[in-house]
Amino acid sequence: MSDLALPYVLAPITDPVLERVKYDNFLVSLRNRRERVTLLESKPFDLTMDLTSICHLKCPYCSTGNGTLKRQKSIMKEDLYLDLMRRVGESCFLMWYFSNGEPLLHKRFAELVGSVQHQQVFSIISTNLSLELSDTALRQLVASGLGMISVSLDGATAETYSLYRRGGDFDLVVRNMRRLVELKRELGLTYPLIEWRFLRFQHNEHEEKAARKLAADIGVDLLEFWPGGAPPAESRRKEGVYRSTKPLAGPAISGPALARLAAHQRATRKLARMVPKFIAGGEVEIESVTRKCDWLYFSGMIHPSGRIGPCCVSNDEVDDFAETFEQLGPVDGAFNSAKHVEARNMFATGAISRTVCQKCPQPRAQHYQFRMKLRAILRNAPDWAVRLLAKEPETYFLPEDKILVPEVGALMRLESWAHSKRFWNMDWRAWRASP
Ligand SMILES: C[S@@+](CC[C@H](N)C(=O)[O-])C[C@H]1O[C@@H](n2cnc3c(N)ncnc32)[C@H](O)[C@@H]1O
Repeated sequence: MSDLALPYVLAPITDPVLERVKYDNFLVSLRNRRERVTLLESKPFDLTMDLTSICHLKCPYCSTGNGTLKRQKSIMKEDLYLDLMRRVGESCFLMWYFSNGEPLLHKRFAELVGSVQHQQVFSIISTNLSLELSDTALRQLVASGLGMISVSLDGATAETYSLYRRGGDFDLVVRNMRRLVELKRELGLTYPLIEWRFLRFQHNEHEEKAARKLAADIGVDLLEFWPGGAPPAESRRKEGVYRSTKPLAGPAISGPALARLAAHQRATRKLARMVPKFIAGGEVEIESVTRKCDWLYFSGMIHPSGRIGPCCVSNDEVDDFAETFEQLGPVDGAFNSAKHVEARNMFATGAISRTVCQKCPQPRAQHYQFRMKLRAILRNAPDWAVRLLAKEPETYFLPEDKILVPEVGALMRLESWAHSKRFWNMDWRAWRASP
C-alpha cells in the first residue's frame, strides 16, 4: 500500500458535522482495541474495498496475476456499492479501492467514487494504468474526488518494467501518468495526488536515479520506492524476478506534495506541530507486544461480491468472515460476525480459533499495517479530540503505540498539561515543542 506519505498528505475533514462523527467513532475504535473487546461498538474507520477481482496483467507474484486467487471473478454492482457506503461511509476516514483486482477495469469507477464525495472519505487507488483510456475517462478520474492515484510502475525503462508487469505497456503507463498530471494542473486541483509507486527488485534497482529524474520530468506529486516481495522458496521464484538486496540511495518517499502539504498541516494542526518533520517511528519486538490484530478493530476487507474478509491478506473465499453485511451483527456497519468475535477472542485469550487468523501469514501486519493511518488521522485531529486523548492516553492507547506512532508519544507528553486552561488557550502558532 502506498501509505508512506499519508501522515503528511491526508486531507483534513472540512465539514464540522462529519469531523465530529468520524473522530467520535475513531475514539471508540481506539478504546475498543485498548480493551481488546470482542464485540465492537465502533465501525471501521479504514476499509479496503475491491471493486473488481480481475486484472489483465500477469505479475508473477500476484495471486490474481498468477491465477492462485481462490475467488470468483467479479465486478461490484452499483447498488451494492451505494448500500455499503451508506452503512460505513460517514464514519470512515480512508478507503483503499484495491487489493486483488485492477480498479480501473470497473467501467463506472470514477462515477461511483464521485457519487459519495459528500462523505469526505479519503480514497486511494493503486492502478497499473496500462489501459487505453480516453482523455474524457482520464479527466473524469482526476475530477472524481479521489485523494490519491498510485501508479504501479516498476522500472524506468520498458525492458525492466515488463519483467514483473507481464503484459503491461511501459510507454502507455508513462503517457497516461503524464496526462493525469497535466489534467490535474488544468483543473487546478490539490487532490488527487499522483504517485508513482516503484516496486524494487534486483532487476530494476539500478534504475533508481533514472526513475527520480523521470518522476521530476513528468511532475508527479510523489515517488515511492517499495520492496517488491518474492517467495522465500527458490522453487517458487520466477526467472529474473528476485528481491532487491541493495539499499536505496535516496529517500523511499519524495516529491513536491510532501513538504508542501506537511507545511500546511503543521501551520494549522496542534499535534502535527509537535512531531518533528518526516520521522518514521520506532520498531517493536512483535513477540513482546500486546496480542491483537489492528485489522480486527480498525478495518476490514470488502470483496466485489459483497463478501467480507478479515483483511487483505486472505486469498481464499473459504476464509471470509461474512457473505453479506447482514451477517455482521445487529449494529449496522460494525464488524461483529461470529468469526470476528472468535478471532478477537483468540488474540485476547489465546483460545484456539478456526479462523484464518490462527495461521496468519503476515503477523507483522497485525501491528504495523495501521501505523501510518493512525499517524495521519491523529495529525489532523481537531482540538476537542486531541484534548480527550491527551487527558487519558492510556484509555485509548497500548504501551507500544508510543514507540510505533510518534504522535501518540506527543499526546503522552501533553498529558500533564491537558487540564490546564493556559495550555489550550495559548497561541500554538508561536509555540514549538522540542522533539
Ligand atoms: C495486486 S495490486 C492490484 C492493484 C493494481 N492492479 C496495481 O497493479 O496497482 C495491489 C498492490 O500490490 C502491489 N504488488 C504487486 N505485486 C507485489 C509484490 N510482489 N510485492 C509487493 N507488492 C506487490 C502492487 O504494486 C499494488 O500496489
